[in-house]
Amino acid sequence: MERPKVFIGVAWPYANSAIHLGHVAGSLLPPDIFSRYHRMRGHQVLMVSGSDQHGTPVTVRAEKDNQTPEQVAERYHLINKKAIEDLGIEFSMFTKTHTPNHVSVVHDVFLRLMEKGHLEQRQTLQYYCPKCVKFLPDRYVEGKCSKCGNESSRSDQCDKCGTTFEVGEISDPVCITCHSRPEMKETEHYFFKLTDFDEPLLHYVQGSEHWRSNVQLFTQNWLESGLKDRPITRDMSWGVPVPLPNTEGKVIYVWFEAVIGYLSASKEWAQSIGRPDAWKDYWMDPEVKSYYFLGKDNIPFHTIIWPSILMGYGGLNLPYDVPANEFLTFKGEKLSKSKGPSIDIPSILDLFEADLVRYYLTVNMPEGKDADFSWEDFETKVNNELVATLGNYFHRVLSFTHKNFHEVPSLPEGIEAEEGQVRDAIAQALVEVETYISACQFKKGLKAIMDLAQFGNRFFDAVKPWSLLKTDRAKCGGVLNLNLRIVQALAVLGHPFMPFSSQRLWGFLGNDGTIGEGSWDWVTKDLNVGSPLPEPKPLFKKVEIDREESLFAAYEALDLRVGLVEEVCDHPNADKLMVLKVDIGRPIQLVAGLKNYYTKEQLTGKKVVVITNLQPAKLRGVESQGMVLAAESGDLVKVLTPSGPAEPGDRVTSGLSPISKVLTFQEFQAFILRVGTVLNDQEADLGHVIKADTSSLTKGTQAAFFLPKEGAETALPLFTEKKVSIGVDGELDNGAKVR
Ligand code: MF3
Ligand code: ZN
Repeated sequence: MERPKVFIGVAWPYANSAIHLGHVAGSLLPPDIFSRYHRMRGHQVLMVSGSDQHGTPVTVRAEKDNQTPEQVAERYHLINKKAIEDLGIEFSMFTKTHTPNHVSVVHDVFLRLMEKGHLEQRQTLQYYCPKCVKFLPDRYVEGKCSKCGNESSRSDQCDKCGTTFEVGEISDPVCITCHSRPEMKETEHYFFKLTDFDEPLLHYVQGSEHWRSNVQLFTQNWLESGLKDRPITRDMSWGVPVPLPNTEGKVIYVWFEAVIGYLSASKEWAQSIGRPDAWKDYWMDPEVKSYYFLGKDNIPFHTIIWPSILMGYGGLNLPYDVPANEFLTFKGEKLSKSKGPSIDIPSILDLFEADLVRYYLTVNMPEGKDADFSWEDFETKVNNELVATLGNYFHRVLSFTHKNFHEVPSLPEGIEAEEGQVRDAIAQALVEVETYISACQFKKGLKAIMDLAQFGNRFFDAVKPWSLLKTDRAKCGGVLNLNLRIVQALAVLGHPFMPFSSQRLWGFLGNDGTIGEGSWDWVTKDLNVGSPLPEPKPLFKKVEIDREESLFAAYEALDLRVGLVEEVCDHPNADKLMVLKVDIGRPIQLVAGLKNYYTKEQLTGKKVVVITNLQPAKLRGVESQGMVLAAESGDLVKVLTPSGPAEPGDRVTSGLSPISKVLTFQEFQAFILRVGTVLNDQEADLGHVIKADTSSLTKGTQAAFFLPKEGAETALPLFTEKKVSIGVDGELDNGAKVR
């Protein structure tokens, strides 16, 4: 029998920011669990995705960063590709949309739909900004969402509630560049005649009873409110060109071309393995089921637009299941890079092992409803469940056996009852894990594994190997053999969820080989009786919130602003202190210990960086409402200062998004800020050479860097919101501390 085949498409993250926990919990981790399981079952899997590099998400970001769209798209593609690999998410192909292959596949689809009459050129109205003298597609206009009331919804889709809009549908539209009210102006665009697919779509959706109810409902509602033909070109230059004459200045709408990425990436994969037709095995064989993993805001594009494109094209498989997740929220707000708080993967992987993140995001996966993320919850779940139940069980069994037997002990006669118990427990876990993963219920799948670990802990307690060791060594070996079987089953069953630690565990059991294709049968594999056991190490370490304090504080609490020193006078009661009146968008008063280092004249008129959310304190009787950041090395103290144009009140960050909270001085002291010299695009000298994204800084200059913790592998340069870096007012030793 031929091995069953599964196609897995994963929503393409925009190449305009680093992926964050929301992407992983929502769309990246579920398919990885799913595909690892299928591969272990011996099924053939094609899993594809890539960076979504076109459209206004990227051009808006590029304008903000003062870079070309191509630079931004390439930079985040590399960052995200690496983050995905570091998380252990295994794609057959993770590519990007700005490739000749993708463009040619999109052109083929576009022209075929044109030929079949599903595309049509029409006159239409578009937002146009007379002040900026340009058309304003999609994210260039923001306004009020008519559904949820969100005041800063994008003109194409509301970030908060996911409602999609046509031009003209949001209220109070403004141009995001100049904030004036856009006009409506005539232009020509190609429309995709969705109305051609009314009937077949209804049929398709009705035949998809296995879809999650949120996906069914959302799609039904869309269909019921009536399909409209949609413009699928835009007046802008970054994107896939329209493959027809007289279309200069227009490109294909990012959503229309990005979904075609599933097909183009499959073709690229086929090329890469040297069998250019291999993609057909997954796209043209009606026996193959196609699964698409995504967040709920992507649902209509995958259950309506993409199926319509495929129906129009003809001969290719439609999505079989679209197990969309809800959102992972942070204090009730959607985790998203462009607005609100964000927790990006590269920074997190600097601090925690991938499997800890995978574990937590699986138990807290937003499967049926939104789930809230918090560091406290992360700590609790990792320490109390992963470490205390799973890790503890592994370590008890492995270290006791290693210490007293050094090898896998054999199973003597006379413990058939215990053996039966263990066999049943493993069999039950196996059935549950298979059932739940196949049904894309990953939380429940992991729960079944944790239940088996709990059974293991109880079993270990009940059979008391420590007392058998003195009375009946053979039986002691026997019950350890049974416990090792449970550990082995857990290693295999747990592999889709936590591949790195599973593989290590596999080695601790004295096994060779890697868990992977075809290894699902190993759940009940015979142990290698008599084979030596290596010395086990604890598989998971507790997360200590104290040790990571600076990180937690950083994500949640640093409010730095550019300040203009307007007036300086001596402190009436202290020799070393000065009293500064500083404009940070509003006037504040600061007390600073700068008198030995600066004259009043030198400071007046200078732009500095101020921490504005410190608890106000009285210093020798004079109130200070914040602190001026200055770096110190030896006898020198220099204030930090923006290295380019900056206005009082401009926010200064390290790319992490602070929210306002008042900090105590002790909390502030937990931050690590250092001076360093930019060496090249990705390294700085902070007393030692360290990785840092310095691509927009000038080589050879000094700048201020934030370190998530002592000994972190990556430093983050400080910038104002207008992307002006923060330098030092003079020269200091590299590594000089900022206080
Ligand atoms: N880039 C989109 C997002 O982040 C998802 C695109 S999925 C694709 O919401 F299939 F269209 F590529
Ligand atoms: Zn404008």
